[in-house]
Amino acid sequence: MNIRIFEHEEDLNVTGAGIITSLLQTKPRAVLGLATGSSPVGIYKQLIAMVQKDLVSFAQASSFNLDEYVGLPAEHSESYRSFMNEQLFHHIDIDLDKTYIPDGNAPDLAQECEAYEQRLEDRGPVDLQILGIGHNGHIGFNEPGTELTGRTHVVALKEETRKANARFFDSLDQVPTQAITMGVGTILKAKQILLIARGEEKAEIIRQAFMGPITTECPASLLQCHPNVVVLLDRAAGRWV
Ligand code: GLP
Repeated sequence: MNIRIFEHEEDLNVTGAGIITSLLQTKPRAVLGLATGSSPVGIYKQLIAMVQKDLVSFAQASSFNLDEYVGLPAEHSESYRSFMNEQLFHHIDIDLDKTYIPDGNAPDLAQECEAYEQRLEDRGPVDLQILGIGHNGHIGFNEPGTELTGRTHVVALKEETRKANARFFDSLDQVPTQAITMGVGTILKAKQILLIARGEEKAEIIRQAFMGPITTECPASLLQCHPNVVVLLDRAAGRWV
């Protein structure tokens, strides 16, 4: 586990973007695993700036997102499809047809999960998976509990997760109660994982995830089993490391 702590936001973003662009320079057809949430946004901004300066191209790359809410129309401003379009895809040269996000409005959600997993198997493995971490240790939307699911599946969101995400909606009752997420097994199949966390509010869960025991009660702790994980933290999130 390679954990790096940064004093300056800018350095964290440049380092994160540098890992992605180095991959694209050696492997233009790389398969990227992408995440939503506020944690990767600074890195996405840095990537956009690099594409605009012609320093990197996503033209041959493809991407698979970790998760999507169930029941929000794709064009809803808080769907993860909208988020990715606005924060990254619409500003870089990636082929939108090769940006995959689970369809949270599929008529048969179980079938959608299976199809997503299958597509990952056919086009993967993911070369580099970007991850944030929830306050309760969730990765994607794999919530803590006595057991975890390996493959892409539908999950009921914990109340604490809905509350944490309510800041993006007008009220808590508008936050969906379910999501489709890659499973922990799906995530661990990536060749390399890049986890980003910022802020004091993530310090305790970062300590548990990377310095505590491996337990389903903290899904991110399973990343300790992966041979190639890079963790980028700001000083506040890395307080107990
Ligand atoms: C959401 C997403 C996760 C994300 C996490 C942390 O619930 N499903 O993929 O990593 O919350 O979000 P943030 O980066 O905004 O703290």
